[in-house]
Amino acid sequence: MSGGQLYDTIGATYTVTRRTEPRIAARIWGALGDARTVVNVGAGTGSYEPPGRDVTAVEPSAVMRAQRPAGAAPCVAAAAESLPFEDQSFDAAMAIATVHHWQDPVAGLREMQRVARRVVVFTHDTSDAGWLRRFWLTRDYLPEVGDFLVGRPSLTELAGAIGARTEPVLIPWDCADGFLEAYWRRPAAYLDENVRRGVSGWARVGPQAEQRAVRSLIDDIASGRWAERNHDLAALDAAELGLRLLIT
Ligand SMILES: C[S@@+](CC[C@H](N)C(=O)[O-])C[C@H]1O[C@@H](n2cnc3c(N)ncnc32)[C@H](O)[C@@H]1O
Repeated sequence: MSGGQLYDTIGATYTVTRRTEPRIAARIWGALGDARTVVNVGAGTGSYEPPGRDVTAVEPSAVMRAQRPAGAAPCVAAAAESLPFEDQSFDAAMAIATVHHWQDPVAGLREMQRVARRVVVFTHDTSDAGWLRRFWLTRDYLPEVGDFLVGRPSLTELAGAIGARTEPVLIPWDCADGFLEAYWRRPAAYLDENVRRGVSGWARVGPQAEQRAVRSLIDDIASGRWAERNHDLAALDAAELGLRLLIT
């Protein structure tokens, strides 16, 4: 199943928990520099689209395109690997929380570089074995997420394909955008069905693994085991969980 088809299946409630996190947006918009024209690839419902610039969105899923708010930037139905634009048509191309869904991430990034003078990507460092072990959700409850990383290009390969530098992005404890790692200090959030439906990883592991993880987390929160195991998180305001900006 392509990434666009996946979101046609799972994307109907995306905006319930997924929205622009202002502190991460500030980093992305800063990386866009003085770009006036911006193409947002894998744009989804429009999170992180910068105000005050001329934005064109690209999104393959009709279900996601249909949830873009009235007045959002115009959106083209296409995929990253084959962008329907002339060479160097934009000042910048951005891709947020989407590269891990692309069938050919390197081809998609090269397409972004073909159509724009600058590329800004927000993704996670899948080459970092520590990411799965450091994050309690994937370490203790949902190790199946690691299976999705098999055969995917590393962050180093992605950055190398477009000559990008990488910058870490810490996740604030009260992150407004409900991606997989967002609730690292708020474990009870993962017991909310809406939170899980907003993250493709929960759908991809399948209902058995999901229910096992949820049951186990309920037990550990109730018994105090989660708090005991993760007591060091209570003092943190932001966590380093492998999220990165790639910037050319
Ligand atoms: C997690 S959502 C992120 C959406 C948005 N960028 C955001 O930050 O909320 C991932 C998006 O990538 C899109 N996608 C999947 N495969 C794609 C591809 N090959 N090219 C472009 N977008 C793709 C999905 O349809 C989905 O809308």
